[in-house]
Amino acid sequence: MIQTFFRRCMALVTLLAAASCSEGEGIEAKAQAPASMGKTLVVYYSFTNNVRTIVGEMTKQVSADVVEVQPAEEGLDYAANNYEIGSSLIAAIRNHPEDAESYPSIKPVDIDFQKYDNIIVCTPLWWSQMAAPMQSFLFQNGQKMAGKHVALIVSSASSGISSTVADAKRLIPEAVWTGDALWINDRKRSQTPTLLAEWLASQTFQTVTETMKMNITIDGQTQSVTLESNQAARELHEKLQEGPVTVTLNTSGGFEIWGALGFSLTSSDERITAGPGDVILYDDSNICLLYGSNTWSYTRLGKIDGLDESQLRNFLKAGERNIVAVLSLTSDATALNDLKVAKDSKDLIFNMKGQQVEQTPKGIYVTKGKKVAYNK
Ligand SMILES: Cc1cc2nc3c(=O)[nH]c(=O)nc-3n(C[C@H](O)[C@H](O)[C@H](O)COP(=O)(O)O)c2cc1C
Repeated sequence: MIQTFFRRCMALVTLLAAASCSEGEGIEAKAQAPASMGKTLVVYYSFTNNVRTIVGEMTKQVSADVVEVQPAEEGLDYAANNYEIGSSLIAAIRNHPEDAESYPSIKPVDIDFQKYDNIIVCTPLWWSQMAAPMQSFLFQNGQKMAGKHVALIVSSASSGISSTVADAKRLIPEAVWTGDALWINDRKRSQTPTLLAEWLASQTFQTVTETMKMNITIDGQTQSVTLESNQAARELHEKLQEGPVTVTLNTSGGFEIWGALGFSLTSSDERITAGPGDVILYDDSNICLLYGSNTWSYTRLGKIDGLDESQLRNFLKAGERNIVAVLSLTSDATALNDLKVAKDSKDLIFNMKGQQVEQTPKGIYVTKGKKVAYNK
């Protein structure tokens, strides 16, 4: 019904806009978003569930926090009586876009934008503009998104999205746009997973360049490990964000201590010669810590920092059995021994991504070139 209505009313707009918008016609291949994509927020509004479905598909393909924008007034039918309410909301914004009063109230949302590298805004199109509740959200929060990598997905029945893109640019004036907006209309809806995959891969999202680290603690001694940038290492790092993992390892072959992790990681085995200090994934679910060398089909997870072969033998208790090793992240309480607690420092403070911060909620920061734990 709505489709027929808008096809008739908006045929001209659609034709004009189609030339300038990314539609992704004829896409066959499934692509992947960048594996090292930084922390991502998806913020969406949906009245009749099309955008909600798009967001559901997208979060199968990228890991992201999801926030839904909701009108303060529940139960309004924006489409009733020939889209009467929707039309008047859009008209009010069109007439006075600078006036806060023009924007319909939305339920409060509490987002710490500092946490996010990328923000994907997903919105329906109303009368060629961005749906009014999403405009309210961006009117209130667009300034906080300055400098963020921002991407836009627009869902319409048939109309082209150029005016909605213009709304996004007006409301988030200092965004770093990741590329063309993705337009999904009713004709393309069934291809949503493929369109999303291709589009995600085409966007210049902020990627994480930070080196991943973990700690290994054996018998009270803690050593840092520089992790590889592969899928298995990323999964291990994510797992350790939930808390430390304790493994029991045994000496084997005169070159390693190894044992079960208790969970599987996505391996990318190849025949390699692993050497002293290498931390290896063997057979998907075993961890090997080497003090000697061995050639086998392995996935490298990382390397223990800064120990020579004899120091490794001592640290890893080479020759022994039932060696208890705790794997953890630097931010885990178990690994905080050498960190100072800072209070009232007036020096510049950076988060672990190297971004300068004003607020310091509980966590690890860098100031005066040193890592510091803030307790509040
Ligand atoms: C008030 C209102 C106005 C709309 N205006 C248009 C329009 O101008 N052109 C169009 O193609 N679709 C229009 N639509 C349809 C929506 O853009 C489309 O169904 C979209 O996929 C809805 O997303 P949602 O299901 O997440 O709310 C309108 C819908 C509403 C409720």
